[in-house]
Amino acid sequence: MSTADPAPLEPLHWRHLAPIWGHPYRGYQRLHARYGPTVAIDRPGRKPIVFTKDEDFATACLVEHHDAFTRPLNIVTGIFRSLVGDAIVSSEGAQWQGRRQRGSRRIRGATLEDDQVELLRRGLGELRDEVAANARGEVVDLLPAIERFTLTQSIRLVCGREIERGPELERLHRAIQTIMGGTQQIADIRRQMFLYSVLPKARKILDAPLRRAIRPSFALYAAYEPDPEVRELLIATFENPSTALSWTLSLLGEHPEHLERVRDEVARVDLIGDSSVTIADIDGLAYTGAVIREALRLRPPIAYLSRRATRDVAIGDVLIERGTHVLVIPYCLHMDPERWPAPERFDPTRFLRADGSVSTRGPAGGRLWSFGFGPRGCPGTRLALQLATAALAVLARDFRWTSPAERARPLPTGRYPWNEKSPVWERLSRSA
Ligand code: HEM
Repeated sequence: MSTADPAPLEPLHWRHLAPIWGHPYRGYQRLHARYGPTVAIDRPGRKPIVFTKDEDFATACLVEHHDAFTRPLNIVTGIFRSLVGDAIVSSEGAQWQGRRQRGSRRIRGATLEDDQVELLRRGLGELRDEVAANARGEVVDLLPAIERFTLTQSIRLVCGREIERGPELERLHRAIQTIMGGTQQIADIRRQMFLYSVLPKARKILDAPLRRAIRPSFALYAAYEPDPEVRELLIATFENPSTALSWTLSLLGEHPEHLERVRDEVARVDLIGDSSVTIADIDGLAYTGAVIREALRLRPPIAYLSRRATRDVAIGDVLIERGTHVLVIPYCLHMDPERWPAPERFDPTRFLRADGSVSTRGPAGGRLWSFGFGPRGCPGTRLALQLATAALAVLARDFRWTSPAERARPLPTGRYPWNEKSPVWERLSRSA
């Protein structure tokens, strides 16, 4: 990027937002194909919205010039704050720093440690037993078992509490599902950015019944965990890892050759039965880890990273004016054929280095954006990867599954900040 005479991008007329309303991922891609990797669209009465699939531009906004941006309170953080309370994701400045440090301590710098392996093994055993009870060669829904796994692990690792399978877990699970579902509907309303530029009060009027509907679930959730900072980590460790696992399992169901390669790798590691297993053994499952990363590349659980400029800032030769909203859309970055050759193909080997270890970059240098990047990037990255790798290792070791052809798995729309989970209806059997 040159730095000569930075000038604002010429914004397109707001009618170009129309393709984004129905299926944002397809809409953004169409606009990028037509107008280039970084596009600005006018918003009446407000500064434009800029969205980008340019890695250098995105990196400059999120890392080099991160201090010129805040995370706006309108979509993800606004909804989150009203549900969870004040926490890391919705704060800025010194308050954010303090919360982020406390959060990192709570999740131990986001790396599982060997003294937590026992807790993990218990959760993996419960996951295996629940799945085994359904493995009769028929098509079954694996999503509830995945969600119960990430929820119990989250309660044990983040809240430091024990919970058994049973009514208490079920109530909490249902409450979180209701909160997340209601939140997505609220996000759907807020997504109609143009409408709300014209009718700012309409948002509140339309949101109100949805907010009322989720209030009892939220009360239950808040009573379970009174500390908002812990509540945030509890949801984060439950929700996104289960989305990632849902897509991983369904993509593997469609690509049995990669499931077989995972099976070959995990045959030598018994995470449940072998009490001498360490976290290093989980980190050492390179192919399994590469499968998780490839699923995260194709189906990022968070649809967009959203920022608002707090001052004028030059990103190369583009001037981003104060108040401009910048959206970085991991899916679009991951679909760049120059960074990710044949980007739509499920190919975990992209993440394997020549020495067999696993990388976070593709062979053409593309970066995995699913966890964000820079100071506001996800603090739970390693924890999430370790949980997902361990769960996949246990399932692949004991079971085989294939996706029935009649079950369509549409691309997530990107309409919500939290992307849709995959339906995980698989023909499931025990391994021979
Ligand atoms: C597959 C799982 C996960 C994915 C894909 C994911 C993704 C993300 C993304 C994209 C962001 C926003 C980054 C940005 O705006 O620049 C984020 C932020 C965050 N994530 Fe995660 N996450 C995952 C798991 C977790 C876990 C397990 C935890 C907690 C232990 C966690 C806690 C957080 C928190 C607290 C933030 C806000 C950070 C801040 O504002 O400084 N996430 N995550």
